[in-house]
Amino acid sequence: MSSQTWWRDGVLYQIYPRSFADSDGDGVGDLQGLIGRLDHLEWLGVDGIWLNPTMPSPNDDWGYDVSDYVGVHPALGTLEDVDALVAAAGERGIRVLLDLVPNHSSSSHAWFVDALGGRDAEFRDYYVWADPAPGGGPPNNWESNFGGSAWQWHEPTGQYYLNNFLPTQPDLNWWNEDVRVAFDDVLRFWFDRGIAGFRIDVCHAIVKDRELRDDPAVTPDDHPEVRRRAVKQVFSMNRPEVHDVLRRWRGVADEYDPRAVLVGETYVLNLDGLMPYYGNGEDELNLAFNFLFLHAGLDADELRTIVAGVEEKLPQGAWPVYTGSNHDGGRFTTRWAGDDPRKSRLVLLMLLTLRGTPFLYYGDELGLPEVVTDWRTALDPVARRTRDASRNRDRCRTPMPWSAEPGGGFTPDGATPWLPFGDLAACNVADQVEDRGSQLWLTRDLIALRREEAALRTGAYAALDTPGGLWAWRRGDAFAVALNLADAPAELAGVTGTIEIGTDRARDGEAVAGTLALGPWEGALVRVG
Ligand code: GLC
Repeated sequence: MSSQTWWRDGVLYQIYPRSFADSDGDGVGDLQGLIGRLDHLEWLGVDGIWLNPTMPSPNDDWGYDVSDYVGVHPALGTLEDVDALVAAAGERGIRVLLDLVPNHSSSSHAWFVDALGGRDAEFRDYYVWADPAPGGGPPNNWESNFGGSAWQWHEPTGQYYLNNFLPTQPDLNWWNEDVRVAFDDVLRFWFDRGIAGFRIDVCHAIVKDRELRDDPAVTPDDHPEVRRRAVKQVFSMNRPEVHDVLRRWRGVADEYDPRAVLVGETYVLNLDGLMPYYGNGEDELNLAFNFLFLHAGLDADELRTIVAGVEEKLPQGAWPVYTGSNHDGGRFTTRWAGDDPRKSRLVLLMLLTLRGTPFLYYGDELGLPEVVTDWRTALDPVARRTRDASRNRDRCRTPMPWSAEPGGGFTPDGATPWLPFGDLAACNVADQVEDRGSQLWLTRDLIALRREEAALRTGAYAALDTPGGLWAWRRGDAFAVALNLADAPAELAGVTGTIEIGTDRARDGEAVAGTLALGPWEGALVRVG
């Protein structure tokens, strides 16, 4: 595996740092805690980790409101801890990606504090300011992603500023060359410290329509997630000029050896809109997260159609990425699998055998379910602001269950974790390590096989003809994958070989002579021949 393509060949693992491991007993995970758990990640076999925001922040949106782009949040540690993490992870062959939040800063960032000072303040134009509409009121109809108008009135200077998320997350003005230069420096600061790349928050949204035109109304043929709003975000995000910034960042990333990796949170719910984020295949993002896939049902037709679309539309040289869980969209064990272990195992098999880079979210390897909490006391500002229980992201940010002991191996006995555990006895690392049939071992064995077999990393994807709820494909000549996404048993004809790894591990090593029979919600990876 070449060092330039490690992120294509490997498996990436997303860590919510506040919830991974707490080294100092304050109930909040931190970088030293994570360093102490790197052995787990090495054992699992992941090649890289992406950490949710680590920079100083008032935490109105848990780090997605950055007040200093070149620091570390004191609750998580120090710059020296980042260096120690990069070194300790590197010794285990694991690279570290951080989260970059360029769309907006915190309102407590020194730039914004200055900008509030007056219309001619030095950093005023770092943000998006606009006069009231001719008849008064907000400059246009843009809606915040967190509900309500995207404009906040600032009485002392008589203008509105744009906030696509919370009012304490003012949008930066990416038409301003000084902002671009400032972020070039941020990228280099971290790459110089050995950070291998960034996941880029709301990557598709940073450049806004220069004329601030109204967004159009949604239409019935828009994706259901788009129809959650009254307007479609045509002018408030996803503008063609964002690609200039991505090409610029690619230039900075390519100065490093190996080239730094850019992974975009590209929340674009159609493939034709998503693909341009890869540029010509090598001059923009390395990976553009596929939210159409994440929002699909656990349904053979839906998923097969999306993957076929990716295979067809991806620019030459570009590479797919698949994920089933994250800190916003929930955990696949609950969202897709309804906490049914058979389905959760099937999803894992899918993610780890499709052609593309899988991103696992911490706990996916355990089949960790979401933890329901009351939205009224939620720590997630979105739940409180929207008063919508289904938008309470606390449910998928709860601490990693390392063991069934008090504190879950996450925090010392007696300390209160910042978010509650689920059922520690039902799902934890220590117990699953002891159980060769566990989801944890399934994950580990699939990753290990991927490492051994080039066909599972780079082999072509070719869908097989399948009946009903079956979805099956070949990876190169060597492997076939079959997933039965249905309540009834199913048979796949035309497969001969050996089950290498089944979601029912009792079937590993079983010979397949022409027909593969699968139970409901069962899947298998077959070495053909
Ligand atoms: C992204 C993040 C999300 C955050 C939002 C605002 O969508 O993933 O957690 O709330 O951006 O920064």
